[in-house]
Amino acid sequence: MSRNGKILITGVAGFIGSNLADRLLKEGFEVVGIDNLVYGVKEQIPEGVDFHQLDIRSRDIYPLFEGVEAVYHLAAKNCISDCQIDPLETSDINVTGTVNVFEASRRGQVGKVIYAESSALYEGSQVLPTPESEVHPQSFYAVSKLAGMVFAEAYQRFFGLRTTALRYFCVYGPRQDYRRTIPPVMSAFIINLLQGKQPTIYGTGEKRRDFIYVDDVNDFHLQCLDDRRTDGQVYNLGSGRNYSVREIYEAIAQLLNTNIEPIYKPDLPGEAQESLGNITAAKQLGWSPKVSLEEGLQNSIDYIKACILSDDE
Ligand SMILES: NC(=O)c1ccc[n+]([C@@H]2O[C@H](COP(=O)([O-])OP(=O)(O)OC[C@H]3O[C@@H](n4cnc5c(N)ncnc54)[C@H](O)[C@@H]3O)[C@@H](O)[C@H]2O)c1
Repeated sequence: MSRNGKILITGVAGFIGSNLADRLLKEGFEVVGIDNLVYGVKEQIPEGVDFHQLDIRSRDIYPLFEGVEAVYHLAAKNCISDCQIDPLETSDINVTGTVNVFEASRRGQVGKVIYAESSALYEGSQVLPTPESEVHPQSFYAVSKLAGMVFAEAYQRFFGLRTTALRYFCVYGPRQDYRRTIPPVMSAFIINLLQGKQPTIYGTGEKRRDFIYVDDVNDFHLQCLDDRRTDGQVYNLGSGRNYSVREIYEAIAQLLNTNIEPIYKPDLPGEAQESLGNITAAKQLGWSPKVSLEEGLQNSIDYIKACILSDDE
């Protein structure tokens, strides 16, 4: 794909979307961004993005897809606990919204659509590390992500739309959305410890998660643009190893040189004990995660100090 082509990102004001926009602009692409700013933050949309405050469920998005070489569809209602409270809106955004993005891409004759599914599709699986075939969604969020998969297959079958699905494990790094009802564990720990407060661990701290740094995810995002082997395929994006919540807490406390102890609260319902991605499929294409946990955490700490807590200092 030419390095001055036009790429469209939905969810551009969110965590992954804004980091991806940065990377694409650096690579020389023109970037069009869509976000309704319900969860996203306008200030974190990189300068240079042609931004449109629109909802992915609206037909007003269609003209923006004309002349676009590839679409990254990342917009979603994605806090699992919020999705449990409102299955109807979850379906509206994640199912109808996703189909509308596929439809806009078909009408605009977009060359490729790369879209976000989730490792939540493996919620009911006992197989570790989990391969892409182990699809057992449980929560409303996971079920809504499954719909994207079957619609992508139908758009490919009937309209020849080229798609690639990405099942992210726990992505972390700068601009991670810490404002959620239950914030992502790393950002929450870092913010609390920097403020001298005790962070909360839900459950015993033994739950294990596969964390992947956002730059590693972006390496694979870029690969999907050019590599025709990714057409019609689905890939796990994790680091291939996991850490307990307690281990993450200890790694952050060590980097911040603090001995503040966390508070333990009752476990959150419906959360799997362990996640670990089988990342063989992505690795077979030559991709591999490069950023160590320590480096990724240090970058996250530096970002939170500079951009989130700088007003407090
Ligand atoms: N971050 C992770 O660890 C992770 C893990 C698995 C899957 N995912 C998936 O990756 C994608 C990006 O995740 P993220 O962490 O950047 O999330 P995020 O919440 O930071 O970003 C999502 C963006 O979508 C926007 N959005 C939501 N509904 C919209 C709508 N109807 N119209 C237009 N914009 C809308 C929000 O305002 C937000 O800016 C999501 O689809 C998510 O489900 C993320």
